Amino acid sequence: MEDYELEILISEADIERRVGELAQQISRDYADEDELVLVGVLKGAFVFLADLSRKLSIPRVIEFIAVSSYEEGSTASNSVRLVMDMRENIEGKQVLIVEDIVDTGRTLHFLVELLSTRNPKSVKTCALVRKPDRTEIDATLDYLGFEIPDVWVVGYGLDYDEQNRTLPHIAAMKPKG
Ligand code: PRP
Repeated sequence: MEDYELEILISEADIERRVGELAQQISRDYADEDELVLVGVLKGAFVFLADLSRKLSIPRVIEFIAVSSYEEGSTASNSVRLVMDMRENIEGKQVLIVEDIVDTGRTLHFLVELLSTRNPKSVKTCALVRKPDRTEIDATLDYLGFEIPDVWVVGYGLDYDEQNRTLPHIAAMKPKG
């Protein structure tokens, strides 16, 4: 997209408020548990994970995982592959996968299936935004910040060609003119 302008879709204040609400909800839900393993999906989730994790009031550890999507393949899970695994052994642990965005749902579906094979106590999912119009696979989302329309968004971890990840808000990219 060469000639475009950015239009704020979700302001910095709205993100901060919603991330606080999600952190409260998660803290309540896991209040009686030993520890929560937060698994951020690189790269996009790094900002959301940083803010969310610092607002939690429960014991937590931070892990990261990276996946890559590709076009080939006829089923949901064989179009996503793992490119970097986490360090932690999650057997018997409570796991929360943290995503910046759910688009088709393929990545989240793949990750839930993958991590579930490692015998965790539980695997839940959290995303800041989801595009319901793009859903191909209904991966269960336990915690969601916002639903957004099917427009390309940048900021708060999200990029277009690696640009605009560090904007404090989420903006829609609109072609000029
Ligand atoms: C984005 C996002 C999710 C995935 C969601 O990652 O962070 O991981 O796409 O899409 P899906 O629901 O269609 O699977 P992206 O591939 O842009 O990589 P990045 O996070 O490194 O920017």
